[in-house]
Amino acid sequence: MIWLGIESSCDETACAVLKDGPVVEVLSNPLYSQIKEHSVFGGVVPEVAAREHLKKISSIASEAIKLSGISFSDIGAIAYTAGPGLMGPLLVGASFARGLSQDLRIPAYGINHLEGHLAAAWLSAQDLKPPFLTLTVSGGHTELILEEENFKYTAIGRTRDDAAGEAFDKCGKLLGLGYPAGAVIGKLAVGHNRKFHHFPRALKGKENAEFSFSGLKTSVLRYVETHSPEYIQENLGDICASLEEAIVDILVSKTVWALKKTGMKTLVVGGGVSANQHLREQLQRYCVGRGIRLCFPDRSLSTDNGAMIAAAAIRREKEHALLNIEEVKPWMPLAP
Ligand code: KG4
Ligand code: ZN
Repeated sequence: MIWLGIESSCDETACAVLKDGPVVEVLSNPLYSQIKEHSVFGGVVPEVAAREHLKKISSIASEAIKLSGISFSDIGAIAYTAGPGLMGPLLVGASFARGLSQDLRIPAYGINHLEGHLAAAWLSAQDLKPPFLTLTVSGGHTELILEEENFKYTAIGRTRDDAAGEAFDKCGKLLGLGYPAGAVIGKLAVGHNRKFHHFPRALKGKENAEFSFSGLKTSVLRYVETHSPEYIQENLGDICASLEEAIVDILVSKTVWALKKTGMKTLVVGGGVSANQHLREQLQRYCVGRGIRLCFPDRSLSTDNGAMIAAAAIRREKEHALLNIEEVKPWMPLAP
């Protein structure tokens, strides 16, 4: 069957066409990123995001169809992001999906955005079977969750305040790196001194999987206030490397704690921050030699996209666990 995936939970209007079969194929996966619209404000403005989704969604859906070489009448089902996310943007995606489903007389299924991020990793490892530990690291979430059969989720730990991606973005903003800053910090850090400055690692060493990144933000603020702009510019690579080290260090140490606690031999990582090369390398370093299987999404599928939403629906369909629209809302234990 052919699936249309729709993602509109934040600032990317994304649609994708996937072909279900023994091996699931992504036929197209275009998106419109609203970075330009939000960067002037230094972060996502929900109202602006909703309006942009409304402007772009139908042309991105048409583009996904065109790029995949199929026509709208070939689509057998639609998967759209039901939450968590920004209310207005979610409403645009859900309305478009439900309207199209009425028009084409095909079903539309609401999908949890975080489950979508993890399904992006599944696309590269389709033999993956639960139980496994999952780490979701995005702009809105930092969660360690145990996934067992039949999509049973147990929260092991999560952030008490900011998410890891949010920490990258807010610290980057303080350093004058624009929005979003995660990928920029990752690039600037390459080849630089990770020990240049020791930024704090909150809750490290505590016997739990709780994260906290708000203190890191304050510490970067103090650093910027107590050093000249020239000094920051001259040492930007080393500062970014030290900052990235602090975030990755805490993500890895809490994940290691959760792996030990749960005894899991597979770790699945998803979300925008899973594109981070240093995080990939550090987790790989821990898992290799300990017999732990590590699954990451293809880097192009780490950040928000439509393919991950269709993939999550296909994963559920294969396990006969697709949810009706009415079922989606109560099933959101992952939302903060
Ligand atoms: O999953 P995502 O696209 O959106 C949410 O669901 O939030 O994640 C976006 C986040 C942003 O905070 C962005 O700065 C971060 O992912 N990000 C990265 C990298 N690429 C994106 N953070 C660190 N390193 C990267 N290479
Ligand atoms: Zn996301």
